[in-house]
Amino acid sequence: MTSVSTTTPGTDWEYAPSPESREIVTIQREYNLFIGGEFVPPASGEHFTTLNPATEEPLASVAQAGPADVDRAVASARKASEASWGRLPGRERAKYLYRIARAIQERAREFAVLESLDNGKPIKESRDVDVPLAAAHFFYHAGWADKLGYAGFGPDPRPLGVAGQVIPWNFPLLMAAWKLAPALATGNTCVLKPAETTPLTALLLAGVIAEAGLPPGAVNIITGDGSTGAGLVGHPGVDKVAFTGSTEVGKEIQAAVAGTGKRLTLELGGKAANVVFDDAPIDQAVEGIVNGIFFNQGHVCCAGSRLLLQESVADAVLDRLKRRLATLRLGDPLDKNTDIGAINSRPQLDKIEGLVAAGEAEGAQRWSPPCQLPARGYWFPPTVFSGVSQSHKIAREEIFGPVLSVLTFRTPEEAVAKANNTPYGLSAGVWTEKGSRILWMAQRLRAGVVWANTYNRFDPASPFGGYTESGFGREGGRAGLAAYLDA
Ligand code: NAI
Ligand code: MG
Repeated sequence: MTSVSTTTPGTDWEYAPSPESREIVTIQREYNLFIGGEFVPPASGEHFTTLNPATEEPLASVAQAGPADVDRAVASARKASEASWGRLPGRERAKYLYRIARAIQERAREFAVLESLDNGKPIKESRDVDVPLAAAHFFYHAGWADKLGYAGFGPDPRPLGVAGQVIPWNFPLLMAAWKLAPALATGNTCVLKPAETTPLTALLLAGVIAEAGLPPGAVNIITGDGSTGAGLVGHPGVDKVAFTGSTEVGKEIQAAVAGTGKRLTLELGGKAANVVFDDAPIDQAVEGIVNGIFFNQGHVCCAGSRLLLQESVADAVLDRLKRRLATLRLGDPLDKNTDIGAINSRPQLDKIEGLVAAGEAEGAQRWSPPCQLPARGYWFPPTVFSGVSQSHKIAREEIFGPVLSVLTFRTPEEAVAKANNTPYGLSAGVWTEKGSRILWMAQRLRAGVVWANTYNRFDPASPFGGYTESGFGREGGRAGLAAYLDA
């Protein structure tokens, strides 16, 4: 498959293809479960297939963990909590976390290629964002492991025990790192369930963890679908549940966990406002808008999916945005020139198509640059809706795709009112020259993260998480440690 240019007619010069080699990674035909430090066949006897969404080719057959497998994984984590990992001093835990971080760096290309194959995201993103940030999370938390007594949670904060962790498909390796690193640094043991469309990098990480020599059972990785996830979060042997995924499933989990005494953190959906004032540096803002919604095909919980433009500059910004979008390249995720890769799955593509049809039916104006989609695989062109009103479905629901809804405002007060008019509260962006206005906005926006003159910037030292329908609890920073400590 070759990259397909979205250049405007008349400026049709082609890039030479520049594919990353997939030879760097060996994909097994079949994968088992990682329990007690080794790969074991599932008691369920069942497997499922994970695909490359850019081609619809099957990549591997992966174990579907059933109830007996969940039992075994939780029992293995409990044993490690009581007998090995849970008893190690922080300075010993730190050594293992540093080892994992270094191994991710050493095998970065392998992780990046595998992530792009299984997920569909462009190699430049898996290579420059997902994998380095995953390593950074292990490095950062390694630094905390022997300093927890100085983190403000008392002189000797204790771990919670066994963490049951369920993650989504949009940042498979990075979300595994966000879950495992803080849990391990604080002395908990883990049972992690990756998403069913993207299990492969978590299984490669399992191999790294085995090679790093962690005590068996400190980390268990069990693959499977939502039923495996439900079995894990509902298991009586789990002390703490951490979930990233849809608001719908988050609510089910909250109901399942209620009254059990388990600790819970939820990182759910979003519908973030990216607010551009008339004094913003426009070219920089356009880059931030593109990064905000077209990064990772818009499969980002904190995506800037609602663009709020101050009326006096709305036409000018929209004009430049459209010109910029015409230069984005959609196609082979393994091509280093690719900006927009494949949609992760058929169901996700169906969902995007359904919401876009609703946007048109409700009267918003749909626009995409000229863009030829590959014949096979799951693809959706970068799409902008203008003339969107706050009541439109595309202004209210998380699309989780490369689709931007544009609204306008006149005053800062109106910008705040519109930005906060959402059941979500995960993130927001503000673009303005004025420092005082940034602070004024940040105080009023109901969002866990507010970016100023940038967007989608992540750092393990910076806590991430939301309010209301976006969930609760924080990951990263000192606040993220609290979620795994009996403090
Ligand atoms: P999902 O929430 O169903 O899947 C996330 C993870 O939860 C997967 O590992 C899945 O196997 C697991 N899971 C599913 N049902 C479960 C249950 N009852 N108990 C425990 N674990 C369960 O998300 P899905 O279906 O992949 O995507 C649906 C929509 O959710 C997307 O279109 C998007 O709008 C949103 N979403 C948001 C994410 C975010 O980070 N904010 C991530 C993934 C999806
Ligand atoms: Mg896949």
